[in-house]
Amino acid sequence: MSKVMIIGSGIAGLFAANRLADAGHQVVVVTKQRAKDSSTNWAQGGIAAILDSDDTDAIQAHIEDTLRSGDGACDEAVVRSVIGEAGQRIQDLIEIGVNFHADEHGEFSLAKEGGHSEPRILHAKDTTGREIERALVAKAVANPNIVLRTNTLAIDLIQREHGRPEQGVAGAWCLDQQNGRVDTVQADAIVLATGGVGRLWAHTTNPSVATGDGLAMGYRAGACAKDMAFIQFHPTALHSSATRPFLITEALRGEGAVLLSSDDLRTWQEACEQASLNGNEQPTPHAFSFTLRHSQQGSMATRDIVARAIDQELKASGENHVWLITAHLSRPHLEDNFPNIALRLSQERLVLGEDPIPVLPAAHYMVGGLEVDDLGRVMLRDRSEPMPHLFAIGEVACTGMHGANRLASNSLLEAVVYAHRAAEHLIEYPPEPYEGNHPAWRAEGLDALVEHTPLVHDRQSLLATMSQEVGIVRTHQRLRRAHRRLALLHDEIAMMWKESIPDRDIIELRNLALTGRLVVESAIKQPTNMGLHFNLDLLTDGKP
Ligand code: FAD
Ligand code: SIN
Repeated sequence: MSKVMIIGSGIAGLFAANRLADAGHQVVVVTKQRAKDSSTNWAQGGIAAILDSDDTDAIQAHIEDTLRSGDGACDEAVVRSVIGEAGQRIQDLIEIGVNFHADEHGEFSLAKEGGHSEPRILHAKDTTGREIERALVAKAVANPNIVLRTNTLAIDLIQREHGRPEQGVAGAWCLDQQNGRVDTVQADAIVLATGGVGRLWAHTTNPSVATGDGLAMGYRAGACAKDMAFIQFHPTALHSSATRPFLITEALRGEGAVLLSSDDLRTWQEACEQASLNGNEQPTPHAFSFTLRHSQQGSMATRDIVARAIDQELKASGENHVWLITAHLSRPHLEDNFPNIALRLSQERLVLGEDPIPVLPAAHYMVGGLEVDDLGRVMLRDRSEPMPHLFAIGEVACTGMHGANRLASNSLLEAVVYAHRAAEHLIEYPPEPYEGNHPAWRAEGLDALVEHTPLVHDRQSLLATMSQEVGIVRTHQRLRRAHRRLALLHDEIAMMWKESIPDRDIIELRNLALTGRLVVESAIKQPTNMGLHFNLDLLTDGKP
């Protein structure tokens, strides 16, 4: 049996690992921190899916919402096939032990989020990702065919013939963070499942592991990066002094929560007082929301539109957050359905269902990634053929499903579908074992980095550049400035990299800098505004 190495232990990596191991393959999963540390573990809203494959109207509606959200840039064949496969993959998750929230009759409770015309999102209250991760980790740990190496940081892929990407890969060099040693991990096929790159921006919803490592490793090995300009900012991250980011799920807006600016809030509160004095019913906040100036769907428009509306509002007001209003909704219902959010808000002395919640947009999801075919095989740069033995699944991959803006709760779905496809392909066509040379890591002549201060400064400077110049609203001038700064940083980091024994700080910084450069270069090349790419200099009618 062939040996497969999977890098990453979120939904994509673990789903593929479990499938391969069940089929008798030897699988090594390497993961940067604990097994559960991933974006998957933090997912809240849920997984969009139509369970009944005969319900063609419901499937068609999900397809149309996805295409509309993607702003004309989705690969329609991919969208159709992924959504058509959703029911089977949800069944797999249920068989693995994922408990989606259901009522007393066993009917799944379905949530709605921005851009969805119907409630179709399966969830486990507001901790869907935690439940999925729990079930997948438990299954992987119990599987004798899986070796799970935690605290192991993949650095670079080993090419079968050094410098010849078309020959494919044969393993990866990995830093064992417990002893600081770099190991050569051999494998007949490699699956990159390393997630996204939210940590390139100062405000993000992403966990600390999201530093674009797989994207950068694949790119350095000769893979093609696609659609990197499309970075999704989630409209409602909690505004808080805590360093650990916290998302307020869009499903809360699906339940009726409304975004208001400070001005809107005052006007609404005055209208409520007036209604009380007149003995009239309290007005709901919906009609007062600034978001209505941007879309008829108001707070429930797609994420690109809502995040941009908030950005514009904050720039005009000079404030650092807007408000999410839930006071018009049933507090017990909200506390029952969003217990994790209620708990987190209580730590800020806020009450869900009563207090306005301060929120702001934050970098959330990498829509682009390593270009893959419909089996998750990574495409070679400048060639329309896959690189042998290398797969990418989940957020690190660009399948064409999300176009220029991902529809809410389609990410977990895409991840599980492509994890399944990649695993099935490897089961059907096991890769030939590689008998060639696996070079050891270039350790000689390297010194431990004596001074970490330059790394800290470089990372801060990278974050500041991406946050200020490559955010929700872009201009040619800002993008060019970012490009120049990133080129300087790149050279500086490359110099330190050559001379130092790798540790997590420098490995991540090197990957962040490369990923940042790919985002900026892709943004500079965008000829028009679409979805998440919004450049003021590309406006044709002068209006946002
Ligand atoms: P991840 O789950 O991020 O896993 C990546 C793994 O790779 C981690 O284990 C990490 O440690 C490991 N790794 C990274 N680099 C290395 C390296 N160099 N060496 C070794 N290991 C490495 N999407 C939805 O569809 N529905 C939702 O409700 C939803 N809510 C979200 C809420 C939050 C707060 C966030 C941040 C995202 C949310 N998303 C949601 C997006 C979705 O969770 C992610 O896109 C998805 O979980 C990505 O899965 P993945 O397996 O590709 O990567
Ligand atoms: C959320 O729960 O709002 C996040 C959903 C997603 O990113 O798809």
